[in-house]
Amino acid sequence: MTVPHTPAAPAAPAHARPVRKAVVPAAGLGTRFLPATKATPKEMLPVVDKPAIQYVVEEAAAAGLDDVLMITGRHKRAIEDHFDHAFELEQALAAKGDTLRLDAVRDPARLAAIHHIRQGEPLGLGHAVLCARRHVGAEPFAVLLGDDLVDPRETLLSRMLDVRDEHRGSVVALMEVPREQIHLYGCAAVERTGQDDVVRVTGLVEKPSPQNPPSTYAVIGRYVLDPAVFDTLERTPPGRGGEIQLTDALQELAVGGTVHGVVFDGLRYDTGDKADYLRTVVRLACDRPDLGPEFLAWLREFVAAAESGETGRQGLAA
Ligand code: UTP
Repeated sequence: MTVPHTPAAPAAPAHARPVRKAVVPAAGLGTRFLPATKATPKEMLPVVDKPAIQYVVEEAAAAGLDDVLMITGRHKRAIEDHFDHAFELEQALAAKGDTLRLDAVRDPARLAAIHHIRQGEPLGLGHAVLCARRHVGAEPFAVLLGDDLVDPRETLLSRMLDVRDEHRGSVVALMEVPREQIHLYGCAAVERTGQDDVVRVTGLVEKPSPQNPPSTYAVIGRYVLDPAVFDTLERTPPGRGGEIQLTDALQELAVGGTVHGVVFDGLRYDTGDKADYLRTVVRLACDRPDLGPEFLAWLREFVAAAESGETGRQGLAA
């Protein structure tokens, strides 16, 4: 049998390559969540029954990103082990015929090709992203913060990848927040485009003064970045808090006119913040078919009791 000759596809020009790689920074100190984060990275805190960072990697995989680089810090082991095989555990579950739990244990390692690199010192998010330079090379890439969850039903990242295809350059995710909260975020000055959910970013400032923010658009933890960001980060000096800020590098690119924003009004949770973490767990637990109905019934009773000042008497059982 002769095999028909198929000419090799011409190599795509660098600018036309689709985004394939995701970078997940998870090397921060997590001081807002101490003491839980003393020996465990905040990205590994459980949200119902999966660590927060697994939701993030699932989101990247769902958007077609099959190569994930974790930027880890002093708790490297926990994250590495979670996305690796666990032979003894798998053997024990297989021997019991517990296929459901066996799959749950195997799933994290099957999501994508997972790589790890260490950020020697937590010198800031910009520095963490710069640590990915050698792995990413000259391709555009996504950055997903490991403690920032976008609800699994949302399609924000896919939309950002489409916007990158259309406009080139870099794309940030923006959410409108109440004016009194904008000083807690990176904030974007924007101009409208012809598309409802897409803006051109004309400037960015990390944690603006509450008196004079450029807008109420907060930058949230999803980015699709042009590799040009690496050269910019190389020369970005430490900024707010003495850290090398990704926002400062993006400000330089924004001034050059190459940054767009996707305005997102869906569900997003900052699991690095205690109150938001609790809201995330409750919300996602209520949405789970195996847990939700019973948990929600208990929650209703709990809230009713709390409102009448009787929480102390409510039992633990549903
Ligand atoms: P945060 O500012 O939320 O992380 O960074 P943090 O510094 O750990 O938090 P607190 O304020 O002390 O509680 C956003 C993301 O960037 C990562 C964090 O792990 C988090 O996912 N990060 C931050 C790094 O990977 N390296 C850094 O140097 C800083």
